[in-house]
Amino acid sequence: MKRTCVVEYVDHVGVAVSDIDAAMAFFVETFGVPAAEVEELEDQGVRAALIEVGQTRLELLQPTGAETPVGRFIERRGEGLHHLAFNVKDVAEGLEAVKSQGLQVIDEAPREGLSGIIAFIHPKSAHGVLTELVQSVGRKESGDGFPPPRE
Ligand code: CO
Repeated sequence: MKRTCVVEYVDHVGVAVSDIDAAMAFFVETFGVPAAEVEELEDQGVRAALIEVGQTRLELLQPTGAETPVGRFIERRGEGLHHLAFNVKDVAEGLEAVKSQGLQVIDEAPREGLSGIIAFIHPKSAHGVLTELVQSVGRKESGDGFPPPRE
């Protein structure tokens, strides 16, 4: 039976950049957003940071090498919009729901990401948009201050 993956809000928008420090400086200086910590995610081959922009966030992604998914993305298409992330209450449930709709997924099981527990849907199954499902974990506990969506 087909099930629905109910989205709570847009969690973040992923942007592929070739120099995360330069990109961060651009957003801080040009748009006045607070700077954020850059973390290296070895398994994903990126240096990444989540910056708060108003009601949502941007995830800046700099590849750690040319032979990484984001490295190949920049090689093919240059810097730019990389993915759209939807916040869901339960990412495992959301993943099963999109599979029940026959969508092609990149992650067969949820995994840990910068923004929480995540899973990607293939852009072929989402009108050309690489789509990420995110379940927030520890956000409140960590007190990083990200505002919840408007009720
Ligand atoms: Co993301």
